[in-house]
Amino acid sequence: MNREEAKREIERLTEELLRHNYLYYVKNQPEISDYEYDMLLKKLQKLEDQFPEFKLPYSPTSRVGGEPVEGFETVKHSIPMISLDNAYSEGELLNFNERVEKLLGHSVEYTVEPKIDGIGLALIYKNGVLSMAITRGDGVQGDNVIENAKTIKNIPLKIFSKIPDYFEVRGEVFLPFETFRKINEEKEQNGEELFANPRNAVAGTIRLKDPKIASKRGMQMYCYQIITDESFLPRSHFERLKLLNSLGFDTPPHTLKLKEIKEVVEYCKKFEEVIKPSLTFPVDGMVIKVDNVSLWEKLGTTAKFPRYAIAFKFKPEQATTRILNVTFQVGRTGVITPVAELEPVKLAGTTVKRATLHNFDEIKRLDIRIGDTVFVEKAGEIIPKVVKVVKSKRSGIEKEITPPEKCPVCGEKTVQLEGEVAVRCINPSCPAILKNSILHFVSRDAMDIRGMGESLVDRLLEKNLLKDFASIYQLKKEDIASLERMGDKSAENLLKEIEKSKQKPFPNVLYALGIRYVGQKAAKLLAAHFKSIDRIINANEEEIAEIEGIGKKIAESIKKYFSLKHNLELIEKLKKHNLQFEIKDEKNKPQPLKGLTFVLTGEMENFTRKEATEFLENLGAKVSSSVSRKTDYVIVGKNPGSKFRKAVELGVKTVDEQFLLNFKEKLEKKN
Ligand code: IVH
Repeated sequence: MNREEAKREIERLTEELLRHNYLYYVKNQPEISDYEYDMLLKKLQKLEDQFPEFKLPYSPTSRVGGEPVEGFETVKHSIPMISLDNAYSEGELLNFNERVEKLLGHSVEYTVEPKIDGIGLALIYKNGVLSMAITRGDGVQGDNVIENAKTIKNIPLKIFSKIPDYFEVRGEVFLPFETFRKINEEKEQNGEELFANPRNAVAGTIRLKDPKIASKRGMQMYCYQIITDESFLPRSHFERLKLLNSLGFDTPPHTLKLKEIKEVVEYCKKFEEVIKPSLTFPVDGMVIKVDNVSLWEKLGTTAKFPRYAIAFKFKPEQATTRILNVTFQVGRTGVITPVAELEPVKLAGTTVKRATLHNFDEIKRLDIRIGDTVFVEKAGEIIPKVVKVVKSKRSGIEKEITPPEKCPVCGEKTVQLEGEVAVRCINPSCPAILKNSILHFVSRDAMDIRGMGESLVDRLLEKNLLKDFASIYQLKKEDIASLERMGDKSAENLLKEIEKSKQKPFPNVLYALGIRYVGQKAAKLLAAHFKSIDRIINANEEEIAEIEGIGKKIAESIKKYFSLKHNLELIEKLKKHNLQFEIKDEKNKPQPLKGLTFVLTGEMENFTRKEATEFLENLGAKVSSSVSRKTDYVIVGKNPGSKFRKAVELGVKTVDEQFLLNFKEKLEKKN
């Protein structure tokens, strides 16, 4: 292909892919399957790699993230990004309405939107092409984070309809709870500090210097404001949101236009009680806006806030209670985490008795003492934590918390490694480290030995039946059956599970070993690259660090792990028990579902979403996240979502969980 042809082909593919994006995200009417889309994208990527000078600024390949940036350019906002005044009660909402009516001399209709708990972003389209994405900053100027914004899948890179040359769209970038949980899980596996809540996580992500990492974080954006030639826009705010939808933007779901303030109050209450608990993304209130935008100018702004809108803030999911004691937990890597034992308190529907204090720096920062009255909060509505001390309630007898000099479990001296916040126990035979390492080894994403929960592991350790991972494979039926609350049947079941775990593929085994910083992702990358444990053991640090996604820190940790004699001996023992220490020849694996595309919806009883996906992919199937005419089967669980409806509409075959169970049974028989 010559340069001229390449240029034309890049333009053609870019336009075609953007059209498919539009059909998929806006029209909900995809014309091609996810697979065909990926193939077109690959083709474009290849051409762009060959001819980077022809890559268009709105190329859909930017979704995966371009080259790292050195810093962000500061840009002045077209008009300031102001924030809203808050109302915390029904009375304050009624006052707001009264002020509006008084100023205008008549009643008005309102648009009520969820207040998304993320960070504000302004998207600037020049001649229909996304050209800048500016963070709120100080409201007057912000940072242009365009490369990261381009990775957000529900932000259009180009607008297809006719719009004014300058077109600005503002909204909120956020992280859904599930994505937030995964980011923190990965951070935990890598021994990094966790994000306190989805909002902090998104604020950190949008400012990452490497868009490739940002692209994997799964940010999303809901838009709610347009700044452009006013004559192009409808007068009603609600209609403006609809216009945004038709141009390819997502707007806050559950938005309503309501006729009077009474309805607004009712809806806010209903939303907080009924809708909010079921949402998959963080919302911290409702935004109430006068629907007729022509009235916005008449109402104007106060020194700080507009008079045409207000934020009704939900009750914070916080409570006050007292710290009765502080205990120390020893994790599998020996890190000692301080935990506050609390006077039980109700918080967001559950009773909270303990809260993490993270580390000793955090205790110092907040000046937390035993006996203190504190605020506890559900961070990202998941883990309770102590956020503030009520110092005025101190009586003087509160006790300071000092890092333990000895491990609370084994009594050995603790250490604080250079450059680390964490205090650790480094005794390799500390029972707490052994227990937590075993719990990690048998966990679902590792060897998946069902039935080997904390209480059973405790009992096995007590009887001295577990000394390391290998001793799991030496357990005898009578050892297990003789334990409290165990019998012949449960012993047999456990042994079956242990036997089954020997089939777990190499990446799981590698992850199960619990090498510091080797999380699931790193284990997969290492296994795919080296194919066997022996090659990893023999590789040098540079070779390991060179693998994309691994890096120096992990490489160092791996070398350190395998430099210890007892770890090498452990691997030898596990090899004797026939665990998978290499990647099996994939070519001979049966692929009965090859060529078929599946979509999953609803909850299953016997599989998590991840397990079902892995199971199908292992059989050669492709698992897609959306239903199209090209989908072969939709597997429908309990409480299915809109994908089920779509499958029925399109006439795609639907099956239930039994389909997977039948396959599983057949395969197990064969083995
Ligand atoms: S309207 C002129 N609508 O909350 C007012 N803001 O304190 C423009 N937010 O800075 C804001 N969801 O970052 C509006 N549906 C929504 C929102 C929303 C979240 C954020 C936004 C704003 C802050 C208001």
